[in-house]
Amino acid sequence: MPAIVLVGAQWGDEGKGKATDLLGSRIDYVVKFNGGNNAGHTIVIDGEKYALHLLPSGILTPGCTPVIGNGVVIDLAVLFQEIDALNDRGIDTSRLVVSANAHLIAPYNRVLDKVTERFLGSRRIGTTGRGIGPTYADKMSRVGIRVQDLFDESILRQKVEAALDVKNQMLVKIYNRRAVEADEVLDEFKKYADRLRPMVVDTGLLLGKALDQGKTVLFEAGQATLLDVDHGTYPYVTSSNATAAGACTGSGVPPTRIDRVIAVLKAYTTRVGEGPFPTELNDETGEFLRKAGAEYGTTTGRPRRCGWMDTVVGRYATRINGVTDFVVTKLDVLTGLDQVPVCVAYDVGGVRYDEMPMSQSDFHHAKPIYENLPGWSEDISACRSFEELPVNARAYIERVEGLIGARVSSIGVGPGRDEIIERHSLLG
Ligand code: GDP
Ligand code: IMO
Ligand code: MG
Repeated sequence: MPAIVLVGAQWGDEGKGKATDLLGSRIDYVVKFNGGNNAGHTIVIDGEKYALHLLPSGILTPGCTPVIGNGVVIDLAVLFQEIDALNDRGIDTSRLVVSANAHLIAPYNRVLDKVTERFLGSRRIGTTGRGIGPTYADKMSRVGIRVQDLFDESILRQKVEAALDVKNQMLVKIYNRRAVEADEVLDEFKKYADRLRPMVVDTGLLLGKALDQGKTVLFEAGQATLLDVDHGTYPYVTSSNATAAGACTGSGVPPTRIDRVIAVLKAYTTRVGEGPFPTELNDETGEFLRKAGAEYGTTTGRPRRCGWMDTVVGRYATRINGVTDFVVTKLDVLTGLDQVPVCVAYDVGGVRYDEMPMSQSDFHHAKPIYENLPGWSEDISACRSFEELPVNARAYIERVEGLIGARVSSIGVGPGRDEIIERHSLLG
């Protein structure tokens, strides 16, 4: 199966990094196609922890070529910090390639992200403050700066000056901040240009040829289905397409070449930042999940909001992404509960919804309708086959599988690379 897309099914932090790493040795290319350093993936190998933001998780697998696609927004300082940190730990990053069409996060976009949030006050999104939204806004407004612009000094200057004409008006007149000098921005960009140049290729062409040669390519989404700018809980979303379709626009590989779509689904739900979350638990059970699951953001360190599994969301993810296989992660975190509630539908003002409500106002008022499944108390972290799981853990997976409408092919039972049950091959 040559082209596989891997996405998050919920609001992010499902364990996509670990799932990508699991597939690592069986794939030739790993492509990041959306987002930037708002993502945070923690991967644990032989007890060593790696936190990746901008680099695709496949970078940890020797022999696999990591690709940063055109749909990504790049903070160059972060890119080279991550490369240097991995090199210091003995990881070879020399295969990394970067799209000439990817957009660059300019310093003024980091400032604008933070001041816009402050101005929004109680209506803020709770962004990661990395300049992601303003950089995508520039891309759509056709005033963005792309990787290829770094290699044409006069074009780069023209574009930065044109962008600053407007940005400085906003910074000074609306937000009461100091104006940014073009030279400050140009200096930051130019500092990295020589180091970046050998990595820059036409990644769409590279991937098309790789697929022609029968290579296996994994497209790894940042963020997740409900954070997608079109299909998520807008406006409480990120600014890119984190669903499976984004893999095509964000890489230059067409839909007819995609063979499988894997979605990663946490055995419960978490969310960082603001926005509706029907199964959220603001009580000691939520606190239990946060502690047991170590639910603190990899990027911002914020405590993640926690709640039960929501299969309305899971079903929606199946449909929007065309999921062929699910990886359910963190089943071990649910160990020790007498009962494990699973949301099967919503009640909105007395009306039952089996699918995601069409309107945001209804979603804000959705009350979960739960089915209570019996829990288990046995430690499952050493289980390596489905049959070894306690009967109630198996029943939980089978019930969830029925509700979300696609098979659960792998199950995470711990953070380590080998703490996984492979039930069906993810590669087809
Ligand atoms: P991502 O953004 O989707 O890659 O996910 P994060 O890395 O932000 O968050 C997932 C966290 O769960 C990481 O700390 C992982 O090490 C951890 N993790 C992944 N799978 C499992 C699992 O099956 N069990 C447990 N206990 N932890 C897991
Ligand atoms: P990974 O890839 C969880 C959230 C932010 C905020 C909203 C918009 O690790 O799953 P942004 O900075 O993107 O403009 O913020 O999206 N968010 C994430 N939440 N995991 C992520 O990435 C996220 N990336 C962005 O918290 O609510
Ligand atoms: Mg994360």
